[in-house]
Amino acid sequence: MANIGIYYGSDTGNTESVAKEVAKDLNIAKEDLHDVDKAKADFSNYDVLLFGTSTTGLGDLLDSWDSFLSKISGSALSGKKVALFGCGDSVSFSDTFGDGVGKLYEAIKDKGCTIIGKVSPEGYSYDSSEALVDGQFVGLLLDEDNESDKTAERLSLWIGNLKKEI
Ligand SMILES: Cc1cc2nc3c(=O)[nH]c(=O)nc-3n(C[C@H](O)[C@H](O)[C@H](O)COP(=O)(O)O)c2cc1C
Repeated sequence: MANIGIYYGSDTGNTESVAKEVAKDLNIAKEDLHDVDKAKADFSNYDVLLFGTSTTGLGDLLDSWDSFLSKISGSALSGKKVALFGCGDSVSFSDTFGDGVGKLYEAIKDKGCTIIGKVSPEGYSYDSSEALVDGQFVGLLLDEDNESDKTAERLSLWIGNLKKEI
């Protein structure tokens, strides 16, 4: 299996819990699970990166991610496979559902990496999302606030597909 690093940002712990679950499912060691609040933007040990974020404000990326993104050098993501995931709230923030994941995608998509792990929006209910690009979510969106009962299945499907793309 390729060397995989997970980088996550999380305000109240939801995305952090998901990141830990993903690490468990993919047999990723603790030292390869990074909180972007404390991590160095050095990806030289990894072939594959999983980036996780929630959405805050009205469709905003977390400050911790904004700050981490500013530390990523121009070529650091070149040649890497990158998968995105994140938590949002499709009911209270139906117009900006998972926009943080969409913003993360926008920030990295032209940095020479290949984005893997896209997801069909089928089965989700929301009005608008910046994470929807060309008919697909650019990563896995989870809603721990309203649909936590769907998380295990969504996660397992995503991880299964991811393994084929890695
Ligand atoms: C102040 C605030 C603003 C939020 N804005 C959005 C939003 O615009 N879109 C969205 O999908 N979720 C939004 N959410 C929901 C969070 O993204 C969601 O609760 C998520 O699970 C939090 O994950 P975290 O604990 O990893 O930060 C917002 C939550 C809060 C508290």
